[in-house]
Amino acid sequence: MALLIDGKRISAEIKDETKAKVAELKEQGVEISLAVVQVGDNPASCVYVRNKKKACEYVGIKSVSHELPEETTEEELLNLIEELNNDDTINGILVQLPLPKHMDENKVIDAISPYKDVDGFHLMNVGALSTGQKGFVSCTPYGIIQLLKRSNIEIAGKHCVVIGRSNIVGKPMSMLLLRENGTVTVVHSKTQNMKEITKQADILVVAIGKPKFVDDTFIKEGAVVIDVGINRDEDNKICGDVDFEKVEPKTSAITPVPGGVGPMTIAMLMNNCLESYYLCKAKTTK
Ligand code: GUN
Repeated sequence: MALLIDGKRISAEIKDETKAKVAELKEQGVEISLAVVQVGDNPASCVYVRNKKKACEYVGIKSVSHELPEETTEEELLNLIEELNNDDTINGILVQLPLPKHMDENKVIDAISPYKDVDGFHLMNVGALSTGQKGFVSCTPYGIIQLLKRSNIEIAGKHCVVIGRSNIVGKPMSMLLLRENGTVTVVHSKTQNMKEITKQADILVVAIGKPKFVDDTFIKEGAVVIDVGINRDEDNKICGDVDFEKVEPKTSAITPVPGGVGPMTIAMLMNNCLESYYLCKAKTTK
């Protein structure tokens, strides 16, 4: 039987650890706050933003909401970000993606102070991760490292294969696995002979965004499989990028969907908000 990697339990553990540290700071008169900016009313974004605010409430972090209409201009959004950058009562800034089509997402992300970029999307934080320096790390891949570590799964020396090369998951995932001394291969939609490569994986991270894309023919016996996907199957049931029924018997450990990677993203966001306090402090006391 494969070990079922329990993202619900591990994310609750991390949120509780963060909650305890936030409470300690509160006793010293410090309040941590996160500005949550949403432009338009994309239904999926509304759900994510609501859940992020709920987590803030649970952990004791103050969330300050900025809900802007779809027609907001890029300049107006950049002005708000500038205000939040200069506001000493705000530790973290999160701009929910995707943004409306008339905005340049990269320009908006890079306008956020890298010291408040709790998503870890700013060029400086991406560069810091690539060069092994301190900075914010993108929440989903950071959460996956926590899932592996807290399940006592060794990364060092293992062949880690990442399916997908997005800026939010695939690329930072590969950097993090490398930082943990894994041997890393990234495959993607244009890769030839993908299965030949995935069948060599000791740890396989799947973030390709296609329901049940990975079946047992992609897997080496005893591999660890991490499924980042959240999709709907033909019966409108939530499923991952991995065909769980077919793959699970071949693995030594696997994440379920839901209840695997999903809850980790918000837990790591809470962790990054706490981290933003220390980073801002380090910056101002230099
Ligand atoms: N949209 C989908 N995932 C994310 C995320 O992790 N952060 C932000 N800001 N937007 C997202």
